[in-house]
Amino acid sequence: MTIAAADFAKRLDQTAEETERLLAQLLSDTLLPGEIARPRRLMDAMRYSTLGGGKRLRPFLVVESSAVFGVPREAALLAGAALECIHCYSLIHDDLPAMDNSDLRRGRPTLHKKTDDATAILAGDGLLTFAFDIISRDEIHRDPTVRLLLTRALARASGLGGMVGGQMLDLAGEGRFGDREPVDVARLQQMKTGALLRYGCIAGAILGQSSKEEYQALDDYGRALGEAFQIADDLLDVEGDAAALGKQTGQDAALGKTTFVTQLGIEGAKQRVRDLLARGDAALSIFGSRGDVLRATSRFVAERKS
Ligand code: IPE
Ligand code: IPE
Ligand code: MG
Ligand code: MG
Ligand code: MG
Repeated sequence: MTIAAADFAKRLDQTAEETERLLAQLLSDTLLPGEIARPRRLMDAMRYSTLGGGKRLRPFLVVESSAVFGVPREAALLAGAALECIHCYSLIHDDLPAMDNSDLRRGRPTLHKKTDDATAILAGDGLLTFAFDIISRDEIHRDPTVRLLLTRALARASGLGGMVGGQMLDLAGEGRFGDREPVDVARLQQMKTGALLRYGCIAGAILGQSSKEEYQALDDYGRALGEAFQIADDLLDVEGDAAALGKQTGQDAALGKTTFVTQLGIEGAKQRVRDLLARGDAALSIFGSRGDVLRATSRFVAERKS
């Protein structure tokens, strides 16, 4: 069975709405035990960059990979909110003048434009740390071992060997730190973008205490989806519409980024996306119809305009 585009869009909207509500609640003024104060300027900045925008694809992946195993939706949404906090922090820092120097994000001025660099750095730091507060909460799963596995996997997806490492390779690939070295684009993208998307997929397997085979299937699917997602992002940077995207286009060329578009050309990059989707579909085959929504997610990633 395939899922109609309209039904898929409704499902994505529903998760986005629930995620928005949850993030607003988590980022309220209410102090948690152990907290001393939540400074107003920091709260405003963290809210500015997490609320009121974004596709919420990463929380959606957590919710839908969890649904494959019948994990309670509330727990999946909470884990999804933690992942979204990491994603939003990565965007804040990615946009800073010292990184991609972008002025527009989600259709609004980037946080450092709206405030200042120091506030943006601290809001990113705050969101990164807050994500680990959320992911380790008791409500996520009654078994502390499951929470530990989920927390550790999030650290590995986000840090040195994941997103942060990938961002370093991305900047090195511009030739900023000396001679421009040959770039392994697949690895770079697997790390800077793929790692968080893949986490969204394996989170369901961890929460659902899946078999090894099921975990591996979601891992394979998540890798293919993650790479396809970044290639689509790079294609949109060349061919997309800035108004629909809510961010500037043409930035990668201006900064001299190495992407699959620069390496394979537009048609070559599109073919690679198609190959990756086929790989993702193959990985999901063990789930039968339980994999329908994830299969539809691959189509969404490849065809999206924003
Ligand atoms: C943008 O991610 C940054 C990349 C990793 C390419 P998204 O396209 O998911 O951004 P939002 O969350 O919808 O704004
Ligand atoms: C961003 O990649 C990846 C992370 C934020 C980790 P890009 O730099 O291509 O993302 P956009 O195009 O600014 O959204
Ligand atoms: Mg970047
Ligand atoms: Mg950028
Ligand atoms: Mg981009």
